[in-house]
Amino acid sequence: MSEHRVDRTDIEEQRGDWARFLGTWLRHPLKMGAVAASSTAYCDEMVARSATGNTGRILELGPGLGAVTRALLRAGVEPERIVSIEYDHDFASALKSRYPRVNVIEGDGFDLDATLADQGEERFACILLAIPIVNLRQAERRALLERYFRRLNPGGNVTQLSYLWKAPIEPVPGRFTVSASDVVWSNIPPARVWVYTPEPALQPVS
Ligand SMILES: C[S@@+](CC[C@H](N)C(=O)[O-])C[C@H]1O[C@@H](n2cnc3c(N)ncnc32)[C@H](O)[C@@H]1O
Repeated sequence: MSEHRVDRTDIEEQRGDWARFLGTWLRHPLKMGAVAASSTAYCDEMVARSATGNTGRILELGPGLGAVTRALLRAGVEPERIVSIEYDHDFASALKSRYPRVNVIEGDGFDLDATLADQGEERFACILLAIPIVNLRQAERRALLERYFRRLNPGGNVTQLSYLWKAPIEPVPGRFTVSASDVVWSNIPPARVWVYTPEPALQPVS
């Protein structure tokens, strides 16, 4: 198990991240989707609902400056097991220097086949999704989720960070179920973790 704790460096980093996050949001509001990084309580909730104990590495999409990455490390996940895909060059560079043992890839988390071309057909334990999808129509969101499911090992799930009050991707009976955490009121803005679990028939055979 890794021994990552919330220490002084973490707290100092998080203070500095506020301004940086907000500045990037002002320039690219749709790509960022949030004015502030997710709170510690919220990220811990996301990690607790992700199938991190499943077989395989853990795929994090849209890590920003590492709020969820830190929660994974706090939960004892080995940094080498984390693959984090971030689109923004400055965020990806910052993350690489903060967490040199985490596999940070600068690329598009919507196009895993291109971004993970070097990894072949790798399947993951779970996927933690923080990329905003509000711009996508419901059919596009569903198609994206199906592509993510194809990247999961049996028993895996996709967890999503979202401020919406109903499931951002509506459940499709027989294909996948959706559940949600309680609202985490300490987050800015308050948000839930959404959990998408493929029906067993859809799960790939290992
Ligand atoms: C709402 S922020 C979440 C940041 C962090 N995970 C958190 O919870 O505080 C969304 C992040 O997704 C990144 N992003 C947006 N589009 C992306 C894409 N297509 N592929 C990968 N990352 C993307 C943004 O640059 C930003 O860092």
